[in-house]
Amino acid sequence: MSFEELIPAPRKAWWVPPGRGAFPLDEETALHAGPGTERVASWLRATLGAATGLPFPDGRNGIELGVDTGMEPEAYRVAVDGHAVRIDGGSAAGVFWGAQTLRQLLGPDAFRRAPLGPRREWLVPMAVIEDSPRFAWRGLMLDVARHFMPKDGVLRYLDLMAAHKLNVLHFHLTDDQGWRVEIRKYPKLTEVGSWRARTKFGHRASPLWEEKPHGGFYTQDDIREIVAYAAERHITVVPEIDVPGHSQAAIAAYPELGNTDVIDTTSLTVWDNWGISANVLAPTDNTLRFYEGVFEELLELFPSRFVHVGGDECLKDQWRRSPVAQKRIQELGVADEDGLQAWFIGHFDNWLSARGRRLIGWDEILEGGLAKGAAVSSWRGYAGGIAAARAGHDVVMCPEQQVYLDHRQHAGADEPVPIGYVRTLEDVYRFEPVPPELTEDEAAHVLGTQANVWTEVTEDQARVDYQTFPRLSAFAEVAWSRLPAPAERDFADFERRMAAHYRRLDALGVGYRPPTGPLPWQKRLGVLGRPIEGAPPNR
Ligand code: ACM
Repeated sequence: MSFEELIPAPRKAWWVPPGRGAFPLDEETALHAGPGTERVASWLRATLGAATGLPFPDGRNGIELGVDTGMEPEAYRVAVDGHAVRIDGGSAAGVFWGAQTLRQLLGPDAFRRAPLGPRREWLVPMAVIEDSPRFAWRGLMLDVARHFMPKDGVLRYLDLMAAHKLNVLHFHLTDDQGWRVEIRKYPKLTEVGSWRARTKFGHRASPLWEEKPHGGFYTQDDIREIVAYAAERHITVVPEIDVPGHSQAAIAAYPELGNTDVIDTTSLTVWDNWGISANVLAPTDNTLRFYEGVFEELLELFPSRFVHVGGDECLKDQWRRSPVAQKRIQELGVADEDGLQAWFIGHFDNWLSARGRRLIGWDEILEGGLAKGAAVSSWRGYAGGIAAARAGHDVVMCPEQQVYLDHRQHAGADEPVPIGYVRTLEDVYRFEPVPPELTEDEAAHVLGTQANVWTEVTEDQARVDYQTFPRLSAFAEVAWSRLPAPAERDFADFERRMAAHYRRLDALGVGYRPPTGPLPWQKRLGVLGRPIEGAPPNR
């Protein structure tokens, strides 16, 4: 393998003279962990050991890992000559990204979990690679609420993210259709809220139902394991508890959380349809105290500085009709229901800040005013992100028109998940997270970018893989590499490198969409999921 096939593309790489030699890995190749790199060394020994069958004993003159604090924390240098493979990074994270580069340099079989045979050569090209990321936030959002992803699926996605140098898992843990994290103080959130009786099949306008229960949740030990597994891969898990909308599952479990003066919330169940439920949280002190209890346990589980509180698509109709909500609007002296939402989000902004954390929410949290320290996930295009950056808020760019990976990736009639905008691999490759409208100072508020995988129509690993890949590979390059302006990006070169990368994905067992279109088994949703005439294009 050559460095010319790396994804994401490195900042700089060159061959070590005199020619294209290679450093062989064999039974004798040692692995030396400099101070602070011991965990990376364990990961590398386990990963390359599994693929190659080689032991990588402790020692010098093989693979050498070190921290060089003169480098930026996530920067790394891989230098290979006739004597050693040296990986230096500005921190253990940088060394880890360098180790991921080494794995790619060894060829696709380095991504397998057992050796194919005893007699193969493992050659590392003699080259120097100097690399560092463009953005500090290189994220993937997984919606495990609409369809539950069992724990091993999440661990697998953490490995796939790490292989692409992505470093933030935005974990969408709650929604109308399911509550997925154990909260000891409120057992019914998972006893009741993690199961729904049936599921809409395909697009929300589809007339078809799958008449069987769907659900599941992560125990607190599962979460601790996920967070630790992510940390070993230098990935931060940012939990999302979506409030005050997208909360029907919680209200089904604890009816007092809903607007009981407007509807009989005791008859609510975990929602079995797609779209946005009208059943939102009541803006009461009781609700605030309840969610403080939820967030207290959440903070014990997730060390992430950022905590996501959702805030998107909160339908205000029940608040308009609710005497309790209207009284609260008057007491607070806010203008309307948007002000009420701002008060609700503001409460948790203060609450999280007082505990050394930072609130992040979807761009609706800008409506009605937002506390200074809060950050915004800009999903309804760039506008929210631009407004937020101009107002001094940090932003993660994830516009639905560009990087919602549940949306279809081809206009063809045989796309198995035919919802949303058509966004091809090339479209994602040409996605630019920083809009040209921003000045340099404003652009500094763009922490980074993330791709969002919603799962209304992706009920299992095969379908999540199909929607996510290969587009996540293009997205990773957008997030990591310093690509030129969209029109000047060399998509042909990316496709050439993808030829090698598809072999890596094959070795990892990823069910990506092939360049030639879906395979017969990938088409199986077929006609059933096709958008119904007149239905809106987006979900
Ligand atoms: C969203 O897509 N509702 C954030």
